[in-house]
Amino acid sequence: MIEIKNISKKVGKKTILDDVSLKIEDGSFVVLIGPSGCGKTTTLKLINKLIEPTKGEIFINGTPISKESPIKLRRNIGYVIQSIGLFPHMTIKENIELIPKLKKQKNDEEIEEKTIELMNMVGLDPKEFLDKYPSELSGGQQQRIGLVRAIATDAEIILMDEPFSALDPITRTQLQEWLYSLQEELKKTIIFVTHDMDEALKLADKICIMKDGKVQQYDTVENLLRNPVNEFVKNFIGSDRLWNAPEYIKARDIMIKNPISVKRSRTVIQGMEIMRTNKVDSLLVVDKDENFLGIVTIKELRRNGIQNHYLSEIMNNEPVFVYDDNNLVEILEVMNREGIGHVPVVTRYNKLAGLITRSSLLSVLSEQFLEMEVSVLD
Ligand SMILES: Nc1ncnc2c1ncn2[C@@H]1O[C@H](COP(=O)(O)OP(=O)(O)OP(=O)(O)O)[C@@H](O)[C@H]1O
Ligand SMILES: [Mg+2]
Repeated sequence: MIEIKNISKKVGKKTILDDVSLKIEDGSFVVLIGPSGCGKTTTLKLINKLIEPTKGEIFINGTPISKESPIKLRRNIGYVIQSIGLFPHMTIKENIELIPKLKKQKNDEEIEEKTIELMNMVGLDPKEFLDKYPSELSGGQQQRIGLVRAIATDAEIILMDEPFSALDPITRTQLQEWLYSLQEELKKTIIFVTHDMDEALKLADKICIMKDGKVQQYDTVENLLRNPVNEFVKNFIGSDRLWNAPEYIKARDIMIKNPISVKRSRTVIQGMEIMRTNKVDSLLVVDKDENFLGIVTIKELRRNGIQNHYLSEIMNNEPVFVYDDNNLVEILEVMNREGIGHVPVVTRYNKLAGLITRSSLLSVLSEQFLEMEVSVLD
């Protein structure tokens, strides 16, 4: 784990970082984002000991880095810097293999094999590029080499400072996918700086939004979208963002929270009466502990009602339902597939939580569009 504890950095009178604290779990993907000059690059440089803090300490796996030798530290941290930073007098191959060779954990053949594999992964033909010099490559190609070089070190921690900023959108998307699956597979700890919120949302486990050297919010993607702590964060994310990401809208956000429910021991006559007085056409049946058991609809009541005495005798025991943490996409899929206009919502512990109906869906969605229209008019 990387623990940044109460770090401040001053240069002269200017405060660049102001009491920054972050905990970064092993194997997680953290994105630093914020306006230009807010201190993102400075944060990376502090982790890598390229600069020293004015106050505070950074711990890596419990060890304060102020006590570590910078050389040793940097061998275990891959760093893709904002301005690429390839060594101009070394070939691409030499650039990539520099640290692996210094580490001496593998022989030259193994190192080369890895180099070739990584080159292919980022879509650069090893035969064509390995013996070239950085100045013979385009900016985007150099950025990819920077990436390969960082991965080739086998470092547990990789710092990436806007590694994709100079790439065209298609290459950028490809490399994002590549980095995402690489991370899934190798579980590196990645700290990634970007200006691009879409990129952050695509890649991050957690996002740290910074402004003027201060952390505004450090949170999971979901919490940022749902509970931005202040106006800055809200505006930074964009108010319509949640609605462009329907996978973050959960059943519990849309459902009616107190649906009409009845106990299974109710009689058919009572059930009809409850429907009539509440103006509903179905009843959700629960046991005494609110566990969800089934549904009785008005149709079934009319068809079989009179011959039966208890609701439990005619209810549908295998009703369609969704879980409260199912997302909008999943819910709509279920409703479409089953051809139903409403669906009960159940917790993972099988307690009845609510009911989603067409109109509850519509009202939530239209509220949002109303809000968007208003913000357009602002
Ligand atoms: N060595 C330095 N001396 C003085 N000021 C510095 C130094 N390095 C950085 N700064 C200032 O510190 C602030 C934060 O810089 P930093 O490079 O961390 O920003 P950033 O968030 O990475 O910005 P960008 O998105 O533009 O890369 C800026 O105002 C910058 O001018
Ligand atoms: Mg920067």
